[in-house]
Amino acid sequence: MPDKKPLKQLLMIPGPTPIPTRILAAMNHEMIGHRGPVFSKILAEVIDGLKWAYQTKNDVMVFPCSGTGGMETAVVNTLSAGDKSLHVNIGNFGARWIKIAKAYGVEAIDLKVEMGKACDPKVLAAELAKDTKKEIKAVFMQQNETSTGVINDVKALAATVRQSHPDVLILVDAVSGLLAQDLRTDEWDLDVVVSGSQKAFMVPPGIAAVSMSPRAWKAYENSKLPKHYWDIKTQKKFADKGQTYTTPPESIIFGMHEAIKMIREEGLENIFARHANNKDIVRNAFKAIGCKLLAEDACASPAVTAIFPPDGVDAEKVRSEIRNHFGVELAPGQGDLKGKLFRIGHLGYVDKLDLIAAIAAIELLFEKLGAKIEIGKGVKAALETI
Ligand SMILES: Cc1ncc(COP(=O)(O)O)c(C=O)c1O
Repeated sequence: MPDKKPLKQLLMIPGPTPIPTRILAAMNHEMIGHRGPVFSKILAEVIDGLKWAYQTKNDVMVFPCSGTGGMETAVVNTLSAGDKSLHVNIGNFGARWIKIAKAYGVEAIDLKVEMGKACDPKVLAAELAKDTKKEIKAVFMQQNETSTGVINDVKALAATVRQSHPDVLILVDAVSGLLAQDLRTDEWDLDVVVSGSQKAFMVPPGIAAVSMSPRAWKAYENSKLPKHYWDIKTQKKFADKGQTYTTPPESIIFGMHEAIKMIREEGLENIFARHANNKDIVRNAFKAIGCKLLAEDACASPAVTAIFPPDGVDAEKVRSEIRNHFGVELAPGQGDLKGKLFRIGHLGYVDKLDLIAAIAAIELLFEKLGAKIEIGKGVKAALETI
């Protein structure tokens, strides 16, 4: 076990994610006038790129904020106090959207699913069937639930909503899912989709993007919730002039501009395939080591994997020791899962060799911390999955 302070950091958390040198270099730029033509052109190209990544012709607006700001934007621009909303809740971020809705007086119904599972469309259909008076105005869901490492089948869930409630709004938190797995905003008829710069876009935190369908714009006109900073119509008016309402985080916009070039070069299908392979490498490695994984294979996230350490090994100890000995940064369990498991992020600028290095270091640590494992089994399984 190395006893010297590690030279490098290996960032293996599900956001913020590692930043490619090309993007860092693009961000290393002097500030420019944000009401001038150079900025306008860059912003327009970023928004075009976002529409491409969202697979949409809908409006996409950018806000200077983290993902949660985008979630709040979605609520305040579409609903009114007393409205009923239904929330597919498969983990911490599902719970967060409920808290936001409730903070604004929305009557949020919690469709809570067991931790580690995706929402079964049949369960959603049964919940919707209870709404005989058709009072539900909106259905909220996560594409990827980062706290549990579970991906929902958004296509199937959205189709289920449309069957019984053709006109309700479908709002999707794709903060950690967009680009990690296919998400077809228009084809699946998704009204509002939220994403963030700090996940698979490979850019630092600072921008949330929010799409609005014609149905969502109609809801905006009826929405009475208070809004100013988050008013999406104001943001759209400025976007149409090639600007943002407030002073934009220019460095992040420059980073997004380069990121969009990179993802266009790689292509959506290749990006999805890369993330799927990352998921398989991690899952096969930890299964070979003998660890239990929180998510079942059928709903396993291509962005992040939640792993229970072997019996007797403390998950938080794994995190602190691997940081001290190898410079690897892992994510903790969240909420009820804190201390019980750790998470490995494998989205964005994460390659096979990063994963193999992290798996090797974790195997060594498991043994150091008292697990009865055979070192090398995980790395072997990972190598066989490449
Ligand atoms: C699925 C999901 N939604 C929302 C958020 C909230 O984003 P932020 O922490 O940027 O506010 C996150 C952050 O990890 C997330 O993973």
